[in-house]
Amino acid sequence: MSPVRIRTLQSTDAEALLAFEMDNREWFERFIDARDAAFYTVQGVTDHIAAYLSGFTAGTWHPFVLEEAGGTIVGRANLKGIDMSERSAEVGYRIAQSACGRGLATLAVRHLIQEAQLHWNLKQLVANVYAGNMGSAKVLERCGFLIEPLSRQETTEHEYRFDLSI
Ligand SMILES: CC(C)(COP(=O)(O)OP(=O)(O)OC[C@H]1O[C@@H](n2cnc3c(N)ncnc32)[C@H](O)[C@@H]1OP(=O)(O)O)[C@@H](O)C(=O)NCCC(=O)NCCS
Repeated sequence: MSPVRIRTLQSTDAEALLAFEMDNREWFERFIDARDAAFYTVQGVTDHIAAYLSGFTAGTWHPFVLEEAGGTIVGRANLKGIDMSERSAEVGYRIAQSACGRGLATLAVRHLIQEAQLHWNLKQLVANVYAGNMGSAKVLERCGFLIEPLSRQETTEHEYRFDLSI
């Protein structure tokens, strides 16, 4: 098993990111919303990276990749919708099917929490998880997130919201 490092997404990642997203397209679509077909091209992924990096420059988005030695991307993790006035953001993550069960999502969420604190000085993180996604709920709970009481859930009955105060 190759060691994995987490780093900020960069503009030169298009080829490796396209391979990661294509190899795992069906796997991800079992748990999270499908992307447009146009995403799955070099141009589509290049545009996607440019949009994420401009969000990073604007201070609204912090995209990371999990990379094995040799440059293979095995996961992604994002701080999304960073709101400096509310000092909050949403977390999102996805791990290659072949790399699951090694603790990488837990590592990624812990990294997001650390970056949220040290880099962005945030105090609140949220995550939205579809009801059947037991693995994702376990990762969040292990990292200290609490499921919102049903009475306060704003999303649909098929999706649950988790919160972490940091
Ligand atoms: C959910 C996901 C991120 C988990 O990644 P991972 O790297 O395997 O996660 P970890 O290894 O850190 O931990 C997962 C834990 O959930 C458990 N788990 C996985 N599937 C499970 C299931 N169906 N029921 C109960 N537990 C489950 C694992 O056994 C593991 O617990 P353990 O370490 O005690 O054995 C990964 O499956 C994924 O990317 N799925 C598709 C995209 C997605 O769902 N993203 C999250 C959107 S909210």
